[in-house]
Amino acid sequence: MVAMDDQYRTTLETLEGMRSESIVAGGREKLEAQHRLGKLTARERVHLLLDDGSFQEFDMLKTGRGGSLGDLRRYPGDGVITGHGSIDGREVFVFSQDFTVIGGSLGEAHSQKICKVMDMAVKVGAPIIGLNDSGGARIQEGVDALAAYGEIFHRNVSASGVVPQISCIMGPCAGGAVYSPSITDFIFMVQESSYMFVTGPSVVKTVTHQDITSEELGGARVHAQKSGVAHFTAPNDVLCLREVRRLISYLPSNNRQRAPILDLRDPPDRVDPALDYLVPENPNQTYDMNVLIYSILDGSEFMEVQSWFARNIICGFGRLGGQTIGLVANQPAVLAGVLDTEASVKAGRFVRFCDAFNIPLISLVDVPGFMPGPDQEHGGIIRHGAKLLYAFTEATVPRISVIVRKAYGGAYLVMNSKHIHSDVDFAWPTAEIAVMGPKGAAEVIHRKEIQAAGDPEVVLNDRMAEYRRAFANPFLAAQRGYIDDVIFPRETRHRLIRALQVLETKEVKRPERKHGNIPL
Ligand code: HXC
Repeated sequence: MVAMDDQYRTTLETLEGMRSESIVAGGREKLEAQHRLGKLTARERVHLLLDDGSFQEFDMLKTGRGGSLGDLRRYPGDGVITGHGSIDGREVFVFSQDFTVIGGSLGEAHSQKICKVMDMAVKVGAPIIGLNDSGGARIQEGVDALAAYGEIFHRNVSASGVVPQISCIMGPCAGGAVYSPSITDFIFMVQESSYMFVTGPSVVKTVTHQDITSEELGGARVHAQKSGVAHFTAPNDVLCLREVRRLISYLPSNNRQRAPILDLRDPPDRVDPALDYLVPENPNQTYDMNVLIYSILDGSEFMEVQSWFARNIICGFGRLGGQTIGLVANQPAVLAGVLDTEASVKAGRFVRFCDAFNIPLISLVDVPGFMPGPDQEHGGIIRHGAKLLYAFTEATVPRISVIVRKAYGGAYLVMNSKHIHSDVDFAWPTAEIAVMGPKGAAEVIHRKEIQAAGDPEVVLNDRMAEYRRAFANPFLAAQRGYIDDVIFPRETRHRLIRALQVLETKEVKRPERKHGNIPL
């Protein structure tokens, strides 16, 4: 009996020792080095991301088989911490790569651990959050490491539209490894300490003879402003993880659920008289669409997605009457709110995310058209603009639009109009719903008269004024029933909340098909 107790005690001590070894991972020196770089350790990140004490770890003792090339090192945990825990009481799955273990590189066991939590996330219907900090495919494992990436990519695609997938880039992310985050729904990047690229600066130098730093090639700023790869950036790990928690608060756990209701104690019938004066009298004058957005949303809380990319369109999450909504708004203060290739792609992907996860869509429209010119035509504005058209049209979630000012031509149709079967369409009295702007229209239909006139400018202005009287208002569209009501700007919030309530039980049946063919 005593011998049994001793044996049992030894087993407990062995377990204790193995756990400690896994926690220290690549060693205290490397953990300190991580801190010196301004980064948290993989384990600290997990604990900050999740509710206190909620983390349940899996595969802490799992090791790899050891690589070749004489490097047979095996570490408990194999360089990634995996498991589940809660965010505001709701279950999520997480993996966090540990740079202190062989540079967080990904081999067979490391990948199997990630795949296990991805599979469980889909099985139980909970989001999966990846904290990436890795040198990429573990070179010593050769083709096994590539196969290991493939398993993750496959799961990323299978889980797309089933559970929300979020990636945080908190260190290196290079080579083919970038494609797992890029398939996920949202990418966060930490400024100055993370980068993403398919080929790094040294390869760039060899192939193109260009000198470029990692930060210039694929840092957070570049991906937030230029490439549109990053949806959010944060100055450090702590703020990044806090923002992930915030994003999760807007999302349902899976595609069968609705987002959680959060009552911010903001009266649904709150009016904002200042909105009656938001749109300037001069149609060529700009204003900031954010004023409208922050005015109508519960508690003036808005989480903007890709706020530095294609700023002529605003996308993001807010709440109305406690319910999460996805908002897509033209921004007249940037490029007059015109739709170009980048804005179309940005909004198209956002719309598809919302539709996949039962988040109602609201568009705030002030769009003068698609951006003209050879750059845009040659850059594929036809197929990129079609993405947004396709995305709004196929969306079956409740869809509401508010035409604030300009709603011209094809861009008006694309922005969630009644004509592509949105559910409820409001217009402000300042709305102008027409085939094109007054100048372009007058020049086309009165070209001969204007050319023949002694003073073409006077005739053009007369014809523009005539056109404006006829079309620069919402009343013709209201008479046709193309919009459901012309509303007072001040009551926009209340009208939207009531429309959302009535659409709560909306159901749409589509003919059976494998999938549509969105113009990629
Ligand atoms: C094995 C790796 C590794 C890798 C880093 N290490 N990357 N081991 N496979 N891919 C190891 C290093 O040998 C070192 O081990 C430790 O991790 C820390 O790396 P350092 O170089 O000392 O750190 P640092 O100076 O901060 O540089 C980090 C780094 C660099 C920029 C990430 O290590 C690097 O360039 N690594 C290679 C990146 C790469 O090319 N990966 C392949 C990408 S292609 P010791 O024992 O000395 O501590 C790819 C294909 C995916 O991933 C394909 C999917 C289809």
